[in-house]
Amino acid sequence: MNSKVNNEMANNLNNNQVKKSTTMNANENTSKPEAALSFECRQLSKSYQQGPITTPVLSNLDLAVKAGELVAIVGSSGCGKSTFLHLAGALDTPSAGEVFINGVNIHQLSEKQRAKFRNQHIGFIYQFHHLMMEFSAQENVAMPLLIRGDSPKDALAQAQVMLEQVGLSHRSHHRPSELSGGERQRVAIARALVTKPSLILADEPTGNLDFDTAKQIYQLLQTLNRTVNTSFVIVTHDLTLAAKMDRQLRLEHGHLKPLADTSPSNLEQVQNEQRQAEES
Ligand SMILES: Nc1ncnc2c1ncn2[C@@H]1O[C@H](COP(=O)(O)OP(=O)(O)OP(=O)(O)O)[C@@H](O)[C@H]1O
Ligand SMILES: [Mg+2]
Repeated sequence: MNSKVNNEMANNLNNNQVKKSTTMNANENTSKPEAALSFECRQLSKSYQQGPITTPVLSNLDLAVKAGELVAIVGSSGCGKSTFLHLAGALDTPSAGEVFINGVNIHQLSEKQRAKFRNQHIGFIYQFHHLMMEFSAQENVAMPLLIRGDSPKDALAQAQVMLEQVGLSHRSHHRPSELSGGERQRVAIARALVTKPSLILADEPTGNLDFDTAKQIYQLLQTLNRTVNTSFVIVTHDLTLAAKMDRQLRLEHGHLKPLADTSPSNLEQVQNEQRQAEES
């Protein structure tokens, strides 16, 4: 990303700090609630069944995330990170166990209720962005707002503000096929953040981004966390991003374990182990 775009993104983030007093007052909450749980998984298990072949991926996994908490999940390729996020975001059904978001057992909702709940409470950043190819960047970002019933004029205006915040206001009329991989990723991030949800589930949000752009995205996530007390569960191979979160966990053998030592040397060791596992 060139320096002009970098500067634009930095300015927009700064503007956002100023604007928050006007745009986010209703939701603003600078102190994190003590005990409220935003997200909880109890004894979550998932196996994939293909004919006679069973592939166990997650096994009795427990996790509790407080409102406003930032949690990073690392783990080698194929360990089940995307599977876990899909269950957490009610995009797939567990083999066993429960997922609560703001106290609601999401897998007990009907399909229609689940879709509405997802729209109102969850922002999902997919590993492979899943943008709608026939719509512009601005229309893609506006979509969750249109689904919840905002007027097209308001939805497109809010989408444009969010695109500015990810440094893409100059690409708002481009379709995904006319954007670079990192730009598509940023459109997907803007789409997940536009409703200011209480929980963001992010699958490799900075996977396609250069260092400077990734840094700006962290700042945007942190701003949202501080201003609307959004909780984040972020799957990442980016250990710089992981180290900035409140808590780091490792998914291994179907369970989540605390990554107790987050010193740079240990994170480097974890990264090397991940690379070796992926190469073998
Ligand atoms: N629909 C499916 N049917 C059968 N097996 C599947 C299915 N989806 C995923 N798997 C298997 O489940 C395991 C976990 O997959 P998942 O996509 O969750 O891994 P991941 O940790 O996100 O990996 P990566 O870091 O490469 O994105 C993998 O071994 C994968 O092959
Ligand atoms: Mg994955």
